[in-house]
Amino acid sequence: MANSPYQIDHPPIMFPTAPLLAALAAAAATPLAHAANATFFPTLNMTDTSGNLIQAHGGDIIRSSASGSNDTAWYWFGEDKTNETTSGHFQAVNCYKSPDFSSWEFVGPVLSPVSGTNISSDSVVERPKVLYNDLNDEYVMWFHSDSANYGAARVGVATSKTIDGTYSYRGSFKPFGNDSRDMTIYKDPDTQTAYLIYATTNNADFAIASLDSDYYNVNESLYTFSSVYYEAPGVFKINGLFYLLYSPQDGWTPTEDGYFTSSSMAGPWSASTLLAEKGSYAYLTQNAYDITINGTEETLYLYYGDHWSGNELGSSTYSFYPVVYDSQDKSISLHQTGGWTLDAETGIWSDLPFTTITAADSTTPNTTLISCADGCVGVEAANMTSSQTFSFTYSGSAGTKVLGLLYTYNGPKNSFLHVRVTVDGVVASGEALVETSRGTTVQQETGTIATLKDGSEVVLTLLDSNGDEFLIDGVKIYEDPSCG
Ligand SMILES: *[C@@H]1O[C@H](CO)[C@@H](O)[C@H](O)[C@H]1NC(C)=O
Ligand SMILES: *[C@@H]1O[C@H](CO)[C@@H](O)[C@H](O)[C@H]1NC(C)=O
Ligand SMILES: *[C@@H]1O[C@H](CO)[C@@H](O)[C@H](O)[C@H]1NC(C)=O
Ligand SMILES: *[C@@H]1O[C@H](CO)[C@@H](O)[C@H](O)[C@H]1NC(C)=O
Ligand SMILES: *[C@@H]1O[C@H](CO)[C@@H](O)[C@H](O)[C@H]1NC(C)=O
Ligand SMILES: *[C@@H]1O[C@H](CO)[C@@H](O)[C@H](O)[C@H]1NC(C)=O
Ligand SMILES: *[C@@H]1O[C@H](CO)[C@@H](O)[C@H](O)[C@H]1NC(C)=O
Ligand SMILES: *[C@@H]1O[C@H](CO)[C@@H](O)[C@H](O)[C@H]1NC(C)=O
Ligand SMILES: *[C@@H]1O[C@H](CO)[C@@H](O)[C@H](O)[C@H]1NC(C)=O
Ligand SMILES: *[C@@H]1O[C@H](CO)[C@@H](O)[C@H](O)[C@H]1NC(C)=O
Repeated sequence: MANSPYQIDHPPIMFPTAPLLAALAAAAATPLAHAANATFFPTLNMTDTSGNLIQAHGGDIIRSSASGSNDTAWYWFGEDKTNETTSGHFQAVNCYKSPDFSSWEFVGPVLSPVSGTNISSDSVVERPKVLYNDLNDEYVMWFHSDSANYGAARVGVATSKTIDGTYSYRGSFKPFGNDSRDMTIYKDPDTQTAYLIYATTNNADFAIASLDSDYYNVNESLYTFSSVYYEAPGVFKINGLFYLLYSPQDGWTPTEDGYFTSSSMAGPWSASTLLAEKGSYAYLTQNAYDITINGTEETLYLYYGDHWSGNELGSSTYSFYPVVYDSQDKSISLHQTGGWTLDAETGIWSDLPFTTITAADSTTPNTTLISCADGCVGVEAANMTSSQTFSFTYSGSAGTKVLGLLYTYNGPKNSFLHVRVTVDGVVASGEALVETSRGTTVQQETGTIATLKDGSEVVLTLLDSNGDEFLIDGVKIYEDPSCG
């Protein structure tokens, strides 16, 4: 876990330095250097190798693939939303680099505002996606290019000879003269043909077009889903079948991600299927990008979702989930987990081991406990609605642990709660962020970090009571995989 972007266990001195990481990456013959297994906690903040929160929202992650390059690192591009409450203030498209999907080094901003253009600092630049164009040996970035009020509705294109920039802005335009808002680009690895998938016709239609051979423009309109109001597209190709992921539009509120399948990007496309349990709202995320990790032993389909904090966009986090492929019915689904680990070289992943303290097992006052409804892990839950506390005595090895709070919270759309953890009377840094599950009984999980020792008395306190029902079913305590 020394490389974990969640900084669970070790002071910064334990982290590999940026030069060391660069040296590891440079030394990598194919397959890539095996610096560490990646550990994912889908509801925790992620930090870079300097300890700063990663700012790369709505982006994409690609492996460098330029011919003749020995650099086989992963590059993560996304929106810098530092300190943003709302959209409409373009700061930068940031780039981060990782040899192994574990630690992320900040490369820098690779596209910055250009005053007097359509990507000035009061423009909207969202969903930046970079692809490598083999024909021109060039990296091409597409993004949703808009005015602050989303009236311009264009795509923007920028290019760079090197993956880590700097990207030169080529301009913004309407594909085939039509408006375009949420979008992605996707490259078929077998044909090198790239595609734009975009919300158009005032966001009602969801359209697919091929790109020209340079990836500078659209080439041919291929398919339109009419009047569906979808956005947040992404594509997996599994055994020759395309899986087109989307989310229904609802601002920054999570919706139920779904997907269509087809053997051709031009369709015909199947009826849609949900990507996760109904009522889970894709575990409170929205699709950002879908990554195929061609491991030496297994192929992992990796979902990168944004967990938007709609009133405070700069605090939004990232949720990575394994996508499980069912070879019988060719369905795909998000694997629900609060903590998992991946060897990005082999493609092998597994859930992290954990123990669960149920409400019934806890030392929570019995006046707070209620009988469990659907979705509880034990027979009781703690009714936290009016600032009650959930408490337990920890028994196990000493160390800094990730706690996963299992909850339902029946608040209105876009409402959040904060839960503080106190250990032996001392307040732990960081608060668990609870997002409304909007009346559904699907259990959600949210993480926070605390340093525990055998016998520690742990108290969870709701900081912002608002009268909307909030139940904690139990708390998962994840084992540090490096000790396992
Ligand atoms: C890649 O590595 C090979 C063998 O180590 C070396 O000959 C070649 O110059 C390297 N290419 C680049 C672009 O660094
Ligand atoms: C973000 O806000 C923090 C705290 O107010 C401040 O220290 C920091 O300089 C701000 N960063 C930017 C890029 O505005
Ligand atoms: C900028 O956007 C305007 C419309 O808002 C458009 O007419 C113009 O072509 C765009 N310019 C560039 C360089 O993209
Ligand atoms: C552009 O939109 C118009 C309707 O506004 C539609 O008739 C046309 O097919 C669209 N063109 C393409 C290439 O999608
Ligand atoms: C993964 O590898 C297979 C063959 O080994 C190849 O057909 C496919 O295009 C690769 N996928 C990606 C995303 O590179
Ligand atoms: C562009 O579309 C035309 C058909 O309109 C097709 O013949 C051509 O192959 C396409 N080019 C690319 C690069 O896909
Ligand atoms: C990485 O994960 C693999 C597969 O789960 C495991 O066999 C291996 O021991 C792990 N390596 C390290 C360094 O933790
Ligand atoms: C609650 O706990 C108290 C002691 O802590 C006990 O006296 C009481 O009977 C319990 N009430 C119920 C309903 O279990
Ligand atoms: C939880 O407590 C609130 C008031 O604090 C109450 O309105 C609600 O009915 C309780 N929920 C259950 C399931 O008992
Ligand atoms: C995540 O970072 C935010 C600051 O952006 C902080 O308020 C919050 O407590 C952090 N959450 C955790 C679990 O550390």
